[in-house]
Amino acid sequence: MSRIHRTIFNRLLAAWVVVSLLTGAAVSLLGFSRIDNQLVELATGELRKVSAASLPLLNREESQRRDLNRLAADFVRQHAIAVEFRDRNRATVAAAVNPLHVALEQELRRQTSAFPADDENHVGKLSADGQAVLRVLVPLRETTGGIAGYVEGAFLIDRETLGRLRHEMIVTLLVVLVAVTLTTVCLYPVILSLNRDVMRYSNDLLKGNVELMEVLGSAIAKRDAATNIHNYRVVSYAVRLAETVGLRHGEIRDLIAGAFLHDVGKIGISDNILLKPAALDEREFEIMRTHVTMGVEILRKSDWLQRARDVVEYHHEKFDGSGYLKGLGGEAIPVTARIFAIVDVFDALTSKRAYKEAFPFAEAMTILQQGSGSHFDPRLTTAFAGIAEALYREVSNTPEGVVESRLQVLIAKYFFPSR
Ligand SMILES: [Fe+2]
Ligand SMILES: [Fe+2]
Repeated sequence: MSRIHRTIFNRLLAAWVVVSLLTGAAVSLLGFSRIDNQLVELATGELRKVSAASLPLLNREESQRRDLNRLAADFVRQHAIAVEFRDRNRATVAAAVNPLHVALEQELRRQTSAFPADDENHVGKLSADGQAVLRVLVPLRETTGGIAGYVEGAFLIDRETLGRLRHEMIVTLLVVLVAVTLTTVCLYPVILSLNRDVMRYSNDLLKGNVELMEVLGSAIAKRDAATNIHNYRVVSYAVRLAETVGLRHGEIRDLIAGAFLHDVGKIGISDNILLKPAALDEREFEIMRTHVTMGVEILRKSDWLQRARDVVEYHHEKFDGSGYLKGLGGEAIPVTARIFAIVDVFDALTSKRAYKEAFPFAEAMTILQQGSGSHFDPRLTTAFAGIAEALYREVSNTPEGVVESRLQVLIAKYFFPSR
């Protein structure tokens, strides 16, 4: 499974789990509340059946309550565990207990709390002797709206009804979960295809930027040489040294861009100084130094090319602080610029120029070692000394086309790792 497939799969899976849990919880809550409402409706409906008959009997003399007691006894026989009628003063005027549920009623009596002070419907779910019981209190009103009394009933929750309601809820829950799963499954190819488009656009953009980097590097290389080989070699040396000392992926990317563009500011140096086949005098050298500020200025035009800035701005700094442009020293010089300074000088020493022949490898290394600690970071110089000979053999006398094609592999590795 590719990285992008894995990422989309993991995120959709996480979304599926979260949405399933949330909708599952919501459906369950709604389902339980629906079950409660239906049970209360059933119980309240039962109580209402006796309301009309009990209303005229509630507030009579004690001697005339026989009818009410009979009504209560009939009611519990058919529908409930117990029933209790109270008059408008909340005094019990009649009560009956289903003979089949005497023990249950006694257990319920122990759990009874104070009679509510308001005149609202009250519902409570209790558990007695391992059975679920619903207790419902309904105020009975006269036609004028005043309170005539109260009827309270305790009902055994019928297992069959409860089972049916629970079954309905589970079916609803399963339907919702299947819908969530199907939606997630359908989203997968859609997201994958959208992501492919985005990746293609972003890759095209990145490709354009990398080409810009190479073109710009090549443009300045053409000013003072017939080929791009110096750029290709310093990029190759720099990456190998960076990998040897364990630079992070992002830093190596910046280093590659910096190595390509290190002398981009030389585009603004006049030919008589840039191409002078002899050492520069003090005034000419002063002008030559301005290629650093001009390079920084050129990069400022592009956010993407800013990644090359550390190398462009600090590649002539020296470890002892005697370099230019800022005179930074030690680790205040960015590590990419410290690495680049070594490989740039190494390639300059081992290459033929208009004003000098190429130094043999051993002599170039001696010069580098002499600069360790003054010009170059000693730790990096030592690391380079460990890989230089093999690297030199691999790169120095290799045709430009071969170095370039190896470089393209490095560029792909650091700029297009997902290809
Ligand atoms: Fe330079
Ligand atoms: Fe250079």
